[in-house]
Amino acid sequence: MKPFNLFNSNDRYGLISIYLHWITALLFLLALLLGWWMEDWDLLADFLTQTHYLIGLSVLFLGSLRIGTFALQTQPAALGHPPLWQETLKDWVQKALIALLVLIPLTGLLTLFWGESPTTLYGWSLPYDESRPFLTDLFEEVHEIASNLALFLIALHALAALKHHWFDLDNTLKRMLGR
Ligand code: HEM
Ligand code: HEM
Repeated sequence: MKPFNLFNSNDRYGLISIYLHWITALLFLLALLLGWWMEDWDLLADFLTQTHYLIGLSVLFLGSLRIGTFALQTQPAALGHPPLWQETLKDWVQKALIALLVLIPLTGLLTLFWGESPTTLYGWSLPYDESRPFLTDLFEEVHEIASNLALFLIALHALAALKHHWFDLDNTLKRMLGR
C-alpha cells in the first residue's frame, strides 16, 4: 500500500485535496437538489429551505478553504499524453468549479440580504439590509443561472473522469479516490 501524504505531489493528490474534493462535491450536489425541491412539499418546505441555507453556507466555508489549498499546492500532472486543448479545457473547468463553489452560496446570501424581510437560520439572524430591495431579484436570477452552469460543468467534469477510467484505462479517477 502506498503511504498517504497530506499534500499533493507531482503525481498524486494529498489527503487534504481528496477529502475536500469529495466532501464539497457531496454537499454541493445536496444543496443543488434541495434548491430545486425545497418548495415542492408544503409540510417540509421550511425545514428543507433551512437545510439548503445551512448546507450552502458550509459549501461557502469549505469552498473558500479549497481556493487556498488549490492555489497553494502543486497540481499532479495529467496522466497519459492528452492533447493541449483537453488540458486547457480541464484547467478552466476546474477553476470555474472552484469559483462557483464560492460564488453560488454568496449570491444566495445576497438574495436574502436584500430580501423582503430578515431571514433566520435555526434562530440565528442572517445579515439583512432593507435599503435596496430591487437587488434581491437580480441575485436570485444570478444564483439560479450560476447553479445551472455548475450542473453543466459538473456533468462534463464527471464524464471526463469516467472516460479516463473506462476508456483510457488510466488512474485519473483512482488517484482522486486515494488509491
Ligand atoms: C452550493 C451552494 C448552493 C447551491 C448549489 C444552491 C442552489 C440553488 C438552486 C438550484 C436554487 C433554485 C433556483 C430556482 O430554480 O429558482 C436555489 C434557490 C435559492 N437559494 Fe440556493 N444554493 C446554494 C446556497 C445557498 C445559500 C448559502 C443561500 C443563502 C443562505 C441560498 C439561498 C437561496 C434562495 C434565497 C433561493 C431562492 C428560493 C426561492 O425561489 O424563493 N442558497 N439555490
Ligand atoms: C460527481 C462526481 C465527480 C467526479 C467523478 C469527480 C472526479 C474528479 C477527478 C478524477 C479529479 C482529478 C482530475 C485530475 O487528476 O486531473 C477531480 C478534480 C477536481 N474536481 Fe471533481 N469530481 C466530481 C465532482 C466534482 C464537483 C461537484 C466539483 C465542484 C463543484 C468538483 C471539482 C473539482 C476540482 C476543482 C478539481 C481539481 C482538483 C482539486 O480539487 O484540487 N468535482 N474530480
